[in-house]
Amino acid sequence: MTNANDRVVAPADSEVDWDAEAAGFDDEPDHGLRDPGVRAAWAARLRTWLPERPADVLDLGCGTGSLSLLAAEQGHRVTGVDSSPAMVERARAKLAGRAAVILRGDAAAPPVGEQRYDTVLVRHVLWALPAPDRVLRHWRDLLRPGGRFVLVEGVWGTLNPVGIPAERLTALLARLSADVRVERLSGDPMLWGKAVDDERYAVVATV
Ligand SMILES: C[S@@+](CC[C@H](N)C(=O)[O-])C[C@H]1O[C@@H](n2cnc3c(N)ncnc32)[C@H](O)[C@@H]1O
Repeated sequence: MTNANDRVVAPADSEVDWDAEAAGFDDEPDHGLRDPGVRAAWAARLRTWLPERPADVLDLGCGTGSLSLLAAEQGHRVTGVDSSPAMVERARAKLAGRAAVILRGDAAAPPVGEQRYDTVLVRHVLWALPAPDRVLRHWRDLLRPGGRFVLVEGVWGTLNPVGIPAERLTALLARLSADVRVERLSGDPMLWGKAVDDERYAVVATV
């Protein structure tokens, strides 16, 4: 369903069997980051989005843990959360020996108790969660003062696009942050392992 005003697309994500997807998930260049060039492109972006000093990073819907691993390699302490046992298993294997813990749970209500974080990192997950405004408010409450959101999202496909446009996400974040910065990512083929022409972006918002 497309809203004429903001092109918000209703999530079809509940139809995805993430356990079934897990085995082949890392085959996509931007998922597995196996290509050194793609990996370096994500590492460079992440370095500019995450705090300069070692920080506590909460990676929600962490999948197989590819971004969690980059964050850990950059010196951050990472907590990953995913609802799929098969994804969690792969992320735990990928992060073994790192300053990281991977939890099974709902990204919308992460099982982290009273723990607070410097960064909530989310890639390609928020768009598919019901009530993103409510979810963002909950995530804001998991951030320490001065903490930040790093949200990588997009609108994928042209015939039947799915996702959340930057315009809508920044409008939601404007209620929570006075410092919202959008970085357009579609023009950097190294991130995706190919040229893309749909909307892809990151938002960094400090609270
Ligand atoms: C498109 S993948 C993105 C994975 C990872 N963020 C990345 O960029 O490589 C979506 C991930 O979100 C997870 N997921 C979807 N809905 C979730 C929810 N409500 N709570 C926790 N994880 C969820 C899926 O299991 C899957 O691992």
